[in-house]
Amino acid sequence: MAEGLEGVIAARTVLSEVDGARGRLIIRGYRVEDLAGRARFEEVARHLFEGFFDDLPEQAEFDRRLGEARAQVFAEARIRENLARLEPVEAVRALIAAMPDGDDLDTALRLVAGVATFSAAVVRLEAGQTPVAPDPEAGHAHDFLRMLRGAAPSRAEAEALDAYLVTVCDHGLNASTFAARVVASTRAGLTSSVLAGISALKGPLHGGAPGPIIAMLDEIGEPTRARAWIEDALDRGERLMGFGHRVYKVRDPRADALKAAIGRLAAQSPALPGRLAFAEAVEQAVLMVLRERKPKRPLDTNVEFYTALLLEALGFPAAAFTCTFAAARTAGWIAHAKEQHATGRLIRPESLYIGPQPEPVAA
Ligand code: CMC
Repeated sequence: MAEGLEGVIAARTVLSEVDGARGRLIIRGYRVEDLAGRARFEEVARHLFEGFFDDLPEQAEFDRRLGEARAQVFAEARIRENLARLEPVEAVRALIAAMPDGDDLDTALRLVAGVATFSAAVVRLEAGQTPVAPDPEAGHAHDFLRMLRGAAPSRAEAEALDAYLVTVCDHGLNASTFAARVVASTRAGLTSSVLAGISALKGPLHGGAPGPIIAMLDEIGEPTRARAWIEDALDRGERLMGFGHRVYKVRDPRADALKAAIGRLAAQSPALPGRLAFAEAVEQAVLMVLRERKPKRPLDTNVEFYTALLLEALGFPAAAFTCTFAAARTAGWIAHAKEQHATGRLIRPESLYIGPQPEPVAA
């Protein structure tokens, strides 16, 4: 029995294929590197939803309704200061939990809108700032950054966030998507599935990894100190965030899709080329030490390493990386939940009992 269910195929999906041996990710017929930087998040979200909603509108109307949904959820939610005592992803989870369950496109759009809108709002609350209302006319990535910062982003910045959201919107049967599908298989609604997804995503082995990457880079400080820092961390038995993957046995293709997005943004941001060069030096040092320490393990860079760098460059605080990941993956969770509903089959594996057998009861 594989404790982590590795190698077990638990769903058929038309949504994405993760080829761990070749380092290839296909999102509904497109290679991730061909989507990132070319498609907008709304386009990929609509593409993931195709065939799962009878009333799916054309792209322009989809974009309009998503913008309207951002405005609606912002107006209806109780975004209160006391949420600031929670981690941003926990505050977003609380706000999503207050939304009604449902199976329809409106619920789906409000969930996609909600995770992004609430993420921006709770980040501002935690910084002691007032949340900024959505602009329903703006593109989703543009508006996400505008709500986060209180000022319109440049076109290059909005495109960089679009590249991120597209890159991580779906990824096979990862832990959070599996959790979302298990909930969907009980015929609970989309809000319940998305809540399960957020809860699974927040752990440090999944979507909680990129925050600590910034802490690692800051603690290392300069390339000459990288090796000693990495060796100390491994000596303490720690895992290095942003490296290794359950499925990819080679480099995660999303790492390079995001590195390319950072490269495009770097032309506009004076500090970014230096930060990127430093991160690349740390990445090389980590890979070298991992190869020395675990020569039989194919450990390589995963998506989170360059996620941390890209989101940092866009002004997201490290504590908000996980809810930003959730804002993208919500589209994937919803499509998977609908796909699971369509099978009609409850997911209910079995366990092997290894506890004590009952003693005979005295008469
Ligand atoms: N740093 C140090 N050692 C590692 C790392 C790492 N990042 N990843 C794996 N290992 C070691 C692990 O300790 C184990 O060693 P040993 O066999 O000597 O006990 C060995 O490599 C095998 O690990 P595995 O069974 O291949 O790994 P896994 O499938 O259980 O874990 C993982 C996959 C992603 C949880 C793990 O690589 C990890 O903890 N990485 C750091 C956290 C991280 O970056 N998470 C984001 C994943 S990508 C985004 C997403 O899709 O969620």
